[in-house]
Amino acid sequence: TDGVLADRFGRVATDLRVSLTDRCNLRCTYCMPAEGLAWLPREELLTDDEIVRLVRVAVERLGVTDVRFTGGEPLIRPGVVAIVGACAELRPRPRMSVTTNGIGLERMASALKDAGLDRVNVSLDTLDPERFKTLTRRDRFAAVISGLTAAADAGLVPVKINSVLMRGVNDDEAPELVRFALEHGYELRFIEQMPLDAQHSWDRATMVTADEILASLRSSYQLLPDPVERGGAPAETWVVDGYTASDGGPARVGVIGSVTRPFCGDCDRTRLTADGQIRNCLFATDESDLRGAMRGGASDEELARRWQSAMRVKRAGHGIDDPSFLQPARPMSAIGG
Ligand code: GTP
Ligand code: 5AD
Ligand code: SF4
Repeated sequence: TDGVLADRFGRVATDLRVSLTDRCNLRCTYCMPAEGLAWLPREELLTDDEIVRLVRVAVERLGVTDVRFTGGEPLIRPGVVAIVGACAELRPRPRMSVTTNGIGLERMASALKDAGLDRVNVSLDTLDPERFKTLTRRDRFAAVISGLTAAADAGLVPVKINSVLMRGVNDDEAPELVRFALEHGYELRFIEQMPLDAQHSWDRATMVTADEILASLRSSYQLLPDPVERGGAPAETWVVDGYTASDGGPARVGVIGSVTRPFCGDCDRTRLTADGQIRNCLFATDESDLRGAMRGGASDEELARRWQSAMRVKRAGHGIDDPSFLQPARPMSAIGG
């Protein structure tokens, strides 16, 4: 297991998710309270150089091949383009993507593409501007829509859309969201809501399940099994019969059933928080402090060894169904999803 991030169950992490900030310019009701959260203090945040160094250690010494920048909202970090640019210089060059609420894309999509970003995933839970305003507590629907267009125009493709469906809030919109995505050549994935919100308001009974989402889609579309292998991807995908994607191939729709159809057995992820902690799982209760080690003078070799130790003790699964399940102390917005 030299030079890789392996765990006791034989899983190897090759996909690094880096949170660039815990802050966000939206206040989605299922994520944060209106007043926001107690943001991380500046001195605890990794600097741009520290982030690039840790990504370099992951790529050069630990076999990481894919890097996703997340938040909070990653595009509000001033250094995001520079960080992407510096990571594009690494060898072997990692594939790079961003998961964003889309607001910054109109302004930044081409700079990100030029810096070396490969693609983006954009969160959008509704196509109704009024409902968007209620859900996100900000009147920015139009900015997200122009952000999507800007990303596609810049070649950050395939552009994927993430939609969290909530009962009685937006679950009536599933077919309409698919229609919008198909029309514009975006790949839509519906996400089961997970117990990761800051307010601890998640309730299994109100969660819209993968089965329900599929039933709703099948009333409007014919879904065919996807011949492409899923690998470690969270999304199960289907080919939408009769539609074409932006690359001319078959159009797809996906469902990320983290709760009712967990994919932990195939997990290939490791996470770095904006304050320099390694999380071996979205639902981990322990973290490993690389910032402290780095600021204490640790060598690349030592950082790599610490990272390996952190991943070795990764649990088999998220344990949401265990009676003893506890939500991690860090909310989704500070992990990056
Ligand atoms: P692609 O490679 O573009 O398919 O990315 P992705 O779907 O892995 O990433 P994205 O950031 O778009 O995340 C979509 C949803 O999947 C979010 O709700 C994430 O929280 C969730 N997700 C991402 N990684 C994991 C994971 O390791 N475990 C679980 N349970 N959910 C995850
Ligand atoms: N469960 C599932 N997905 C969530 N997201 C935010 N909070 C949750 C949650 N509790 C989604 C966002 C974004 C992605 C990174 O995760 O909407 O699309
Ligand atoms: Fe991986 Fe943990 Fe997500 Fe399961 S819950 S897929 S183990 S990060």
